[in-house]
Amino acid sequence: MNYNKKTIMDVDVAGKKILLRCDFNVPQDKKTGAITSDKRIVAALPTIRYLLERGAAVIACSHLGKPAATFSSYVKKQVEKGKNEADITEEEWRQSLRKLTLAPVAERLGELLGQEVIFAADVVGEDARTKAAALQGGQIMLLENTRFEKGETKNDPELARAMADMAELYVSDAFGSVHRAHASTAGVAAYLPAVSGLLVARELEIMGGALNDPKRPFVAVLGGAKVSDKLGVINNLLDKADTVIIGGGMAYTFAKAQGGSIGGSLCENDKLDYARDMLAKAKERGVELLLPADTLAAKEFSADAEAVVVPTDAIPDDMQGLDIGPETTESFCTAVQGAGTVVWNGPMGVFEFERFAGGTRAMAKALAESGAVTIVGGGDSAAAVEQMGYADRITHISTGGGASLEFLEGKELPGVACLLDK
Ligand code: 3PG
Repeated sequence: MNYNKKTIMDVDVAGKKILLRCDFNVPQDKKTGAITSDKRIVAALPTIRYLLERGAAVIACSHLGKPAATFSSYVKKQVEKGKNEADITEEEWRQSLRKLTLAPVAERLGELLGQEVIFAADVVGEDARTKAAALQGGQIMLLENTRFEKGETKNDPELARAMADMAELYVSDAFGSVHRAHASTAGVAAYLPAVSGLLVARELEIMGGALNDPKRPFVAVLGGAKVSDKLGVINNLLDKADTVIIGGGMAYTFAKAQGGSIGGSLCENDKLDYARDMLAKAKERGVELLLPADTLAAKEFSADAEAVVVPTDAIPDDMQGLDIGPETTESFCTAVQGAGTVVWNGPMGVFEFERFAGGTRAMAKALAESGAVTIVGGGDSAAAVEQMGYADRITHISTGGGASLEFLEGKELPGVACLLDK
């Protein structure tokens, strides 16, 4: 896939009306709806400031959560969750939408920018269109949640055109959503010249560089609970990397595939053949595939369970593996220390429990101290690196969870493919 896309620095933005897709899908407190991390809003600031300083009028937009855009789709979802159809009211649906308004994001963005963020109560309705038409250079407005429009996730051309009609240029800075072919992430580019913002440009430059032209040795570290979440990633990285390290819960499926006894550890029995294929592929391509030799196991999945070091291929029946063991930690970290480029996605163990956080912490430290170009995919490993205090010593922490995984799979990303080539 071509990552060499035009950015806001390659086009004239001065005085232009710009539709800017951000990823303001921020985490919220379930009860109060308060924003619990404004990281995604902060990540959008450089692009917004760049545009406003050049006198552009910025019409920002984003989705938030997964609202049901129509009452009938709300009913369907609730029935799937086991609710009785007769008890579901339209008021309840409207209330669910009110919880996903972007109004609090507009407020927080205004505080961070130090200027008013005009908020539109709809996406392409009367309020949005009137406010967009009146918007002056140097001003910014935010549209309501794009997923309140039923055409958004269907990539409806009419919705895309209505959004495009408000602006003269489209800027994609929502890296976390570039794997979605939705009206506001991709469709709109059919009607406007489309370029990337600074956040997307950096993600493409660093992650694209690592995949296409890595400084070698290129070491990929993969973890997390499930092999099935990373099928494409493992396969693609075996084509690109010199060493692939597999830790976390998914390593036990590989251990079982090689004939090991893994006790009650996580295992996807329908992925044993896949694991064998990957082991064979690594051998065939001369890629070093490192798997845990020892494991920190426990009798229960709990924070204060007693931890015992056991060989990964001989975990007692009444135990489950919850972290990589000390010998494995050392060999994995040694591989990382000699790397030119490291890409890491997925924790090495149940790092939410301090007792089983050692492997993940050691990996975060090894990346920070490696001197390599280090890239951490979004999601859990990004959270671990931040929580453990190593974030400022990592070259790049991706803002995308699902998007960075699809990037590492080598898949075409609709929100990137739609941008103008350089
Ligand atoms: C994310 O949080 O990963 C992005 O905002 C995409 O959200 P989605 O999975 O609801 O499309």
